[in-house]
Amino acid sequence: MEKQIGIGIIGLGSVSRAHIGAIALLPQARLCAICDIDPAAMDVIKDAAVKRYTDYHSLLADPDVELVHILTPHYLHARMAIDALEAGKHVILEKPMASELNDAKRLIEAADRAKTTLSVIFQNRYNPSTRELKRLIDSGACGKLLGSRAVITWCRSKEYYKSGSWRGRWETEGGGALINQSIHTLDLLSYLGGPISRVKGHISTDLLSDAIEVEDNVHAVFEYASGARGVIFASTNYVNDAPIMLEMVFENATYQLWADKLFRLIDGIPDLVLREEGGQTVDGKAYWGTGHKAEIAAVYQAVLEGKQFEIDARSAYPALDLVKGIYESSLTGAWHRLATP
Ligand SMILES: NC(=O)c1ccc[n+]([C@@H]2O[C@H](COP(=O)([O-])OP(=O)(O)OC[C@H]3O[C@@H](n4cnc5c(N)ncnc54)[C@H](O)[C@@H]3O)[C@@H](O)[C@H]2O)c1
Repeated sequence: MEKQIGIGIIGLGSVSRAHIGAIALLPQARLCAICDIDPAAMDVIKDAAVKRYTDYHSLLADPDVELVHILTPHYLHARMAIDALEAGKHVILEKPMASELNDAKRLIEAADRAKTTLSVIFQNRYNPSTRELKRLIDSGACGKLLGSRAVITWCRSKEYYKSGSWRGRWETEGGGALINQSIHTLDLLSYLGGPISRVKGHISTDLLSDAIEVEDNVHAVFEYASGARGVIFASTNYVNDAPIMLEMVFENATYQLWADKLFRLIDGIPDLVLREEGGQTVDGKAYWGTGHKAEIAAVYQAVLEGKQFEIDARSAYPALDLVKGIYESSLTGAWHRLATP
């Protein structure tokens, strides 16, 4: 049999289903250890051969674990990922890479020092529709980018926020609708459109002002370094998790990513370019997209080949910088300039 990477998981909450499902389908990996401070959360794994830990340092000391999936609350991400890299492990870290920019910068430095691979989950980059749009842009056929807009309208209720004490608090979640639900789409804005240079935005806590500290409504305008302009509207006050819409207007064509489809606008009317086939292949929610398994498989491949991964700490930083830039601009009322470390 080909070499199998020994896998550990830290954090067995809701997103772990998508990771466990992907690991089970990928022959190049073998789950050997799990860790959660809540022992009951680990019941999701029935296999008695998988070792169980309640302290993540013990999992990191386990020589069978070569790569760790870190699926914990936001404020723990950078610290756990740095500890894992320093223990000589490869890392798959759920988004956001950190809850604060200083921690994100420390993680970039740790990843630069490490001999192992660090990857951040932005699975929407692996959606077939996203990949097709990226291919079209990189081919030069679209011409210069003129503008983009992102509309994210999901539903996060009081019950959702009650489901974890870390949710809804600046100290532990690092924000709300932007850093948690919208960060995937914010990542695509620069992944597809190029570096963003400045942003001006406004956040508010409207529907759930009696339940959470963080924002549930956001609007922002931003400028790319190229001079193109974009707008963002994000809300978790909607009645359901509506499909996200991302539009990119180029000199030669206008494209829309909508749910699992890519459209080209012809005289303002959406014309189907690509519809994803196959649907959800691992456990999880449909609106998370189908990319978890594809991204995790690509990371394992990079690890087996001894390579760094495309979505490393530096590549994940601009989305967090944009999130935090909107928070800062909302406080000051002024434009906020973004800076890549
Ligand atoms: N990529 C996506 O589409 C997607 C979707 C959902 C969640 N997420 C991300 O996944 C992460 C986890 O989210 P979730 O919804 O699964 O949260 P959750 O609250 O359901 O699960 C977190 C788990 O971490 C455990 N935990 C907390 N502190 C720990 C510690 N010190 N050591 C070990 N375990 C600890 C908790 O007991 C819990 O079981 C977040 O970063 C979230 O943003 C990503």
